[in-house]
Amino acid sequence: MADISTGNVRVEEFDVVIVGAGGAGLAAAVQTGQAKLKTAVISEVYPTRSHTVSAQGGINAALANMDEDYWIWHMYDTVKGADYLGDQDAIEYFTKNAPKTILELEHWGMPFSRTEEGKIYQRAFGGQMRNFGEDIAHRACAVADRSGHSLLHTLFERTLRPDIAPYVSYYSEYYAMELFRDEETGAAVGVLAWDMVNGGFHLFIGYAVIFATGGNTRNFRTNTNAHVNAGIGWTMCLKAGLPVKDPEFVQFHPTGIYGVGNLITEGVRGEGGYLLNSKGERFMKKYAPHVLDLASRDVVSRSMAMEVMEGRGVGPKKDHCLLKLDHLGRDFIMDKLPGIWELAYKFVGVDCTKEPIPVQPTAHYHMGGIPTNVNAEVVTYDGEKEIPVPGLYAAGECACPSVHGSNRLGCNSLLDLVVTGKLAGANAAKWIIEDKPVFPNPPIEFVADKYGKETIERVKAYFDGGPGTIKMDDIWEDMRDTMQENMSVFRIEKMMAKEVEILKGYEEKFKEVGLTDKSHTFNTELAEIFDLESLIYVSRVETEAALARKESRGAHSRDDYPERDDANWMKHTFATMGKDGNVEIQYVPVRTKPLTAPTFQPKKRVY
Ligand code: FUM
Repeated sequence: MADISTGNVRVEEFDVVIVGAGGAGLAAAVQTGQAKLKTAVISEVYPTRSHTVSAQGGINAALANMDEDYWIWHMYDTVKGADYLGDQDAIEYFTKNAPKTILELEHWGMPFSRTEEGKIYQRAFGGQMRNFGEDIAHRACAVADRSGHSLLHTLFERTLRPDIAPYVSYYSEYYAMELFRDEETGAAVGVLAWDMVNGGFHLFIGYAVIFATGGNTRNFRTNTNAHVNAGIGWTMCLKAGLPVKDPEFVQFHPTGIYGVGNLITEGVRGEGGYLLNSKGERFMKKYAPHVLDLASRDVVSRSMAMEVMEGRGVGPKKDHCLLKLDHLGRDFIMDKLPGIWELAYKFVGVDCTKEPIPVQPTAHYHMGGIPTNVNAEVVTYDGEKEIPVPGLYAAGECACPSVHGSNRLGCNSLLDLVVTGKLAGANAAKWIIEDKPVFPNPPIEFVADKYGKETIERVKAYFDGGPGTIKMDDIWEDMRDTMQENMSVFRIEKMMAKEVEILKGYEEKFKEVGLTDKSHTFNTELAEIFDLESLIYVSRVETEAALARKESRGAHSRDDYPERDDANWMKHTFATMGKDGNVEIQYVPVRTKPLTAPTFQPKKRVY
C-alpha cells in the first residue's frame, strides 16, 4: 500500500473507503473484509460510539416467534406506513430478507432477549400489524431496550474476526470533508479527511467509496441525534453535484424526553404504556381508534401536537404530554425497559416505575437521503432512468433506497442499516473483484494541486485568523430554533418560505465565521464549523423540497394542502445544489411494482 506524504496531506490507497462506522458502515466492512479487500473505515468517533448505539426498541422481521406472521404482512405495513411513497420492489426485498438477516445476527452472537421457550423475543411496535392491518403484530426483535447497542457491538466484533480483521483498518476520530469524483467518468475516487487527533489531512483513495454517515437532525432544537449526526454524507454529495432524494420527509418521534429530546422508545407503548393529556385522557383513542398508541409515528406525533394546540398540553406551558408506564410494574420495566428508566431518571429526575415521563415529539430520522438502487449504488437520473455513479455506494440512514417513503415504521431502521450495509459492501466487492475497474491513481502532483486544495486552504485560513469573527454557535443556536418553528410536525407555506430566506441569511453569515480555538489537536470547534455548514445545506434542501411538495403525505403535513394527492404527487423529490447556490428540484415516479408480490394499491391510511 502506498503511503506518501505530500505536504501535510497523507495519501493512502485502499480497495474500499467506508465513511462511517455505525451499523451500516460495519455491515459493509464485514463484506469487504470477508472478500479480502483492503478497507478503510473512517469515523469521527470510535466505532462502538456511533449513533446506532442509541437505538432502543428493536429490529423488525416476521419471525413469527410470538404470533403468526409473514413477510408479506411486514411488506404491507411498510408500504402503508410509507404512505405509498416507498418503492414496492425495494420494500419487498427488504422485508423478505429480514428473517434471514436476524438469524445471521443471532448466529454472530447478538444477545437477543428470549421468550420462555428460548426464542428471540419480539415486541409490538407502531404500525406493525398482522393480516393486513387486522391486529397488532409482535415483530420487533429486541435486546431489552438496548437493541442498537447490541447490534453495533455484534457487527464490530464480527470485523475483528481473524479472517476479516487483517483487511479492515479503522481510522477513528477522522472527519471526512470532501468526496472526490473523476472529472471524466464521474466515478468516486476517494475522500479527504481531517485527522482530528494529530492534525493534518488524509486522502483516502479507493476503487469504491461507501457512505454510511447516519442521520442529520441536529438542525432542530429538539432531536434524538448524537453530536456526530450532522449530515456530512448528504453535504459531501451535494457539493460533488449529486442529488439528495425526498429530503422533505423528517420524522418526529412522538416520545422524546420533554425539554431534552432524548429518545424514549416506542417499545414502551409496544409493551402497554400509553400517552395522556392534561385531563388524564388517553387521547389516542380519538385519533387511531383501532390501535391507539401503536399508530405510526407521524400520526401519533400529529395527535400530540393537536392536543397541545387545543389547550390540553401538560405543564406550566401546556406544551407536552405524559407517557404512563408505571402500571407495567417495576420488575417488568427493569427487565425489558431498563435503559429508558435510566434516561428518564438521569435527564428529568422521573422514576417511571412510579410516575409518567414528560414527552414531546422530537426530530429523529430522515426518510430520504442519498439516492440508491437495489445494489446500494448511488444513482443520479437521466429523466426517469437511473444512472449509477461508478464506485459510489450508500447505506443506512444517510441513504434512500426508497423503503421508508414519507414515514418510516419503528424498528425498520436497524433492519435497513444491516440490509443496505451488507448490500453496499457485497456489491462494491463484487464490482471490484469481477469487473476489475482501473484503480484511480492520480499522480502525486495532481493530488497536491487539485484534490482538496480548496478545503485545505479554507481550514488553514481559519487558523490564520480568517475569514471573519462571527461565532459558529450564534448561527447554530438560531437555526435550531427557526427550523423547529418553521419546519416541524405541521407545516405552513408562509413559514417554510420564511425559513428559506432565513437559511439564505445563515449561508451569508456563515462566510464570516471565525475560529477562536486555534489548537491543532482535537479541535471540536473546527469540527462544529463543518457540522454547521453541513446542517445549513441539509436544512436548505429539506425546506425547499417541503415548500415545493403541495400535498400532505406521511411526515409532511401542510395546512393548505391537508390531503394526500396521489394523482399529482406520487413521485420522489430529487434535490441538487446548483453552482449558484440555488436548490434545483426534479421528480421521478414511485415504483409501485414489487418483485413478485402483488402491488398494494394506495388507499386512505387509517390505524
Ligand atoms: O422507538 C424506538 O425504539 C426507535 C426505533 C426506531 O427508530 O426504529
